[in-house]
Amino acid sequence: MIKHAVIPAAGFGTRFLPATKAQPKEMLPIIDKPTIQFVIEEAVNSGIRDILIITGRGKRSIEDHFDKSYELEEYLKKKGETRLLEEIEKISSLASIHYVRQKEQRGLGDAVMCAKEHVRSEPFALLLGDTIVESKVPLTRQLTDKYSKYKGSIIAVEEVEEENIQKYGIVKGKKIASDTYEIESLVEKPAPSAAPSNLGIIGRYVLTPEIFDALKKAPEGKGGEIQLTDAMNLLCKNQRMYASTFEGERFDIGNRLDYAKAFLKMGIARKDIGSELEEYAKKLVK
Ligand code: G1P
Repeated sequence: MIKHAVIPAAGFGTRFLPATKAQPKEMLPIIDKPTIQFVIEEAVNSGIRDILIITGRGKRSIEDHFDKSYELEEYLKKKGETRLLEEIEKISSLASIHYVRQKEQRGLGDAVMCAKEHVRSEPFALLLGDTIVESKVPLTRQLTDKYSKYKGSIIAVEEVEEENIQKYGIVKGKKIASDTYEIESLVEKPAPSAAPSNLGIIGRYVLTPEIFDALKKAPEGKGGEIQLTDAMNLLCKNQRMYASTFEGERFDIGNRLDYAKAFLKMGIARKDIGSELEEYAKKLVK
């Protein structure tokens, strides 16, 4: 059973400036719910109760969001408007949320390394804090189920357009089931001409704790940073690792178009404003 979820949320969010100058991209809301709350809900709905968020400078609002707010609570109680508050309380009470700070921004691999003391020698789920996945079965649950079946690290991938290959970690694998590959190698953000496939890593992983040794050995990679993909490439030489396509739609919230799509799709799916928003969108298209 996977008990821990690790959520890196320490990046600068440069792709989303100026919105991210003074607020973390993980706090960008889809209508009224911050992105990272969707991510935590995915972990919780996958049966994981222990959550470690890797933060950094300028990320305090994430901690505040999941903390108690006595003044606000009192105010809303007086006004009889407890619904909003209940929602936040619900999530913090379902999960035990811990924080660790990444001191320097040295890449995703370095951020994951910050989880070592917390998860120790257990496998863990890794969910990038700026990625939302809409699916019938939470994607992390899809992965943990497969982890139980294959007994090896497993990462979610999807086919990406050729022009987008250089934005992703890319997996080379041998197909062993209609939706599963045994990984042979991985490469971070290759040029399309050098890419071994079009299977892009989308930000959901279940990893064995040996990833920490691999991270220690990983040399500086793309952009002079410690890349998780490079460490996974070392690890797959020593133990079986798998990649899996999945049911669901992924939104990379650091990407402007994806953010707009998520806003529209999830807005339309809501009970309160959905039908009016849909009508408006149709009118705009006309
Ligand atoms: C990170 C990973 C990359 C992965 C991507 C998914 O890159 O390094 O392998 O494909 O997330 O969003 P980033 O988007 O942080 O540059």
